[in-house]
Amino acid sequence: MAKSSPDTPTDDPPAKAGADERRTFLVQASAIVIGGIVGFVPLLVGLRNFLNPLLRSKDDIEVDEAVRIATLDDIEIGKVYRFKVNAIRVDAWSKHPPGPIGAVYVRRDSDDPKVLPKVYTSVCPHLGCSVDYKEDRQQFVCPCHNGTFAKDGTLVDPETAPPPRDLDELEDVEIRNGNELWVVYRRFRSGIAAKIAE
Ligand code: FES
Repeated sequence: MAKSSPDTPTDDPPAKAGADERRTFLVQASAIVIGGIVGFVPLLVGLRNFLNPLLRSKDDIEVDEAVRIATLDDIEIGKVYRFKVNAIRVDAWSKHPPGPIGAVYVRRDSDDPKVLPKVYTSVCPHLGCSVDYKEDRQQFVCPCHNGTFAKDGTLVDPETAPPPRDLDELEDVEIRNGNELWVVYRRFRSGIAAKIAE
């Protein structure tokens, strides 16, 4: 009867060793990949948060909320008034305490509380100088290149005047608490005929 020899191998040792090596390699490679992902994700999140202020648009950086300008009691019907606009300003890294961010001209044509005052930015749409209101002429005049606007903001002599459009009227105007004038202040691109917010 044939008897198996004790020296006869029941498995192939080189093949088993190779399989073990591959398994070890895969385990180590997986650990490296997973470890890399676990470490890299927080790094990306931190980097995004660090750069976030720089990635925001200008509209995000400027305060984009209504600010209180005056009370209706401060604005006599038919007259034009200039008011500073104070607001909290946020730049890329800091939040500044309330301070002047611009100025507006306000005119009331009616004492009917449902008729909102007209509000214009003081920024000349030509090259951005601040226009003055001349009470005696009932006109806005820009000191830089003499651009002139009527009391309702329309450009005088549009064919020859340097400004390319009328004074910019602010549209987001509302009355709060019965007699407080609140406005969303905006700046618009200068030097072009279209009124486009910066
Ligand atoms: S900046 Fe006002 S007319 Fe030129």
